[in-house]
Amino acid sequence: MIAIGCDHAGVEMKNTIIKELSEKGFEFLDMGTDGQPCDYPVIAKAVCEKVISGECEKGVLICGTGIGMSIAANKMKGIRAALCTDSFSAKFTRLHNDSNVMCMGARTLGCGLAVELAEIFLTTGFEGGRHQRRIDLITDIENNL
Ligand code: RB5
Repeated sequence: MIAIGCDHAGVEMKNTIIKELSEKGFEFLDMGTDGQPCDYPVIAKAVCEKVISGECEKGVLICGTGIGMSIAANKMKGIRAALCTDSFSAKFTRLHNDSNVMCMGARTLGCGLAVELAEIFLTTGFEGGRHQRRIDLITDIENNL
């Protein structure tokens, strides 16, 4: 299950991702917004809580730029959120950073590209090895170690 959420800027992109990737077998838990103006940190928190609890394996967040969502998501313990703007970033943030949330900008990307980036992110595994050590160091920072 994938948690997905957006603010008012990202509704069309979120709905397109849900529609197109559901047809490919992905399952989504839609945490809003349904179109009402809202504050993106509220949605970021709701999606990230689903990932942290384990109810959802990954999260997708969309706002105007993707930046506000990524700043908010990365404040949450256990979340490694990546702003994805291109296929290389979407792939390598999974391979190397084991990112569990992707963020995209609805005002900077087209919906077609966003669907493609989400599919890459959701289907690419973590490479482990030396990258795990670096993830552990990030976790140490999170824990003030
Ligand atoms: C909302 O207008 C806009 O500020 C928001 O979607 C996002 O771009 C923030 O980072």
